[in-house]
Amino acid sequence: TERTFSILKPDATKRNLTGAVNAVIEEAGLRIVGQRRIQMSRAQAEKFYEVHKERPFFGELVEFMTSGPVVVQVLEGENAVAKYREVMGATNPAQAAEGTIRKRFAQSVGENTVHGSDSAENAAIEIAQFFGEGDIAG
Ligand code: GTP
Ligand code: MG
Repeated sequence: TERTFSILKPDATKRNLTGAVNAVIEEAGLRIVGQRRIQMSRAQAEKFYEVHKERPFFGELVEFMTSGPVVVQVLEGENAVAKYREVMGATNPAQAAEGTIRKRFAQSVGENTVHGSDSAENAAIEIAQFFGEGDIAG
């Protein structure tokens, strides 16, 4: 069993869709073993997206991720990293497969409803940025 890190982004909290997204996550067989609703600070968002800091959309991304509350989550399951990427769908909702979270809920490539770690290694790093072991119960 594996863990991945997930964020329900501000477009999800703004539209009151956190339960709807969580239903898709759970229907896919992933377990939400840690969950917290927070307002991300600018410093937290800049650190989290540090790998993208040279990209032209970095400023916009930090602005968006701090524009409202987010729900940070730890998801657990068999091949959780790859499985969640599949459930999320493509970054750009216009290219996302039918039934995926982004196809169903996302509005644009920027406001795309969810984040999911892209490797088990990054998942561990990202989880540690927002959770202590005592905040996770499998
Ligand atoms: P994450 O799970 O959020 O990491 O998405 P991803 O791995 O599918 O995409 P990527 O790592 O390439 O980009 C990270 C995030 O930056 C995306 O989820 C988008 O929110 C945002 N992003 C990517 N491309 C664009 C863009 O062209 N414009 C804007 N505004 N945001 C973008
Ligand atoms: Mg990514």
